[in-house]
Amino acid sequence: MTTSQGLKLVDLDEAGVDNAFRADVLAGLSQEPKAVPARWFYDDAGSKLFEKITQLPEYYPTRAETEILRDRGAEFAKLIRPGSTVVEFGSGSSVKTPLLLSAIEPSAYVPLDISGDFLRASAADLAEKFPGLPVYPVEADFMRQVELPDAVADLPKLGFFPGSTIGNMVARTAVDLLRSMRETLGVGAQLLIGMDQIKDEDVLVSAYDDAAGVTAAFNLNLVTRINRELGGTIPLEALKHEARWNDDFARVEMHLVATHDITFEVDGKSFAMAEGESIHTENSHKFNRRTSNMLLLAGGWEPTKRWLDDQGRFSLLLAEARAPRSAP
Ligand code: AVJ
Repeated sequence: MTTSQGLKLVDLDEAGVDNAFRADVLAGLSQEPKAVPARWFYDDAGSKLFEKITQLPEYYPTRAETEILRDRGAEFAKLIRPGSTVVEFGSGSSVKTPLLLSAIEPSAYVPLDISGDFLRASAADLAEKFPGLPVYPVEADFMRQVELPDAVADLPKLGFFPGSTIGNMVARTAVDLLRSMRETLGVGAQLLIGMDQIKDEDVLVSAYDDAAGVTAAFNLNLVTRINRELGGTIPLEALKHEARWNDDFARVEMHLVATHDITFEVDGKSFAMAEGESIHTENSHKFNRRTSNMLLLAGGWEPTKRWLDDQGRFSLLLAEARAPRSAP
């Protein structure tokens, strides 16, 4: 896969395995404590399991954010510049994106995704739902500045980043992303971004450790993927899914904890885990009004409006990339 600049987005080996996946897993298992980046959850099986997670009674974020998008359309229309081009960071959800696009009068829709297959499928789906709306999918790594299509160069921009995906990133990475978004969209652009709220620990932990065991299966699927794609011998039966609230960092962490001492190989290299040791597989940061505002400001975005669902569980924030100016 290449972009118009000839830049390689996904670098596969002869067997079709993503070299970045191999590098991340080997580096992550070699460090103390062990960790694998959450982005590797989403192979075919993982994406299907995540879809199931969004339907679980315990997993409220998707329903709460959808409720805001459904109920606040009139306010979006008032605050979002008419004729904005909606630039979505990620391929777009079949439910949330249409709610936003119907609420405002967009001039174009530009989904950005590193995965060309997802991108083309969801772009086609949207083009069908909104005949007459120009759709320009762009295959790109949105963690870096992206060149937008010429056709939208002079139109006002609205970035859209729902799902509290920003919460998967540690602060430093989240700020890098927000700054890249500002570079991509330009001064004067607006950003509509979802951030999950800090709440009762039991509610948070249950959302990541559901009774039906779907989130456990999602977490353990990462090991299945490592074993399949990287010639791993990690014993699945020895790893237990755990969701923990880290109060200092305001995040739910997912871990895979060894129930007894184990040794295994990945890509021909040997690793060991002692009983109780874990592989840290995900952070899901949670926010309140002040911390979400602080994060946006650190990334170069001035918050202008914040919406919550009826139960105050999830926030959607509107922010603006103001021109730099003197500050005390
Ligand atoms: C897709 C990153 C928003 O952190 O809530 C759900 C992923 N992990 N259950 C989240 C996830 C476990 C989800 N995000």
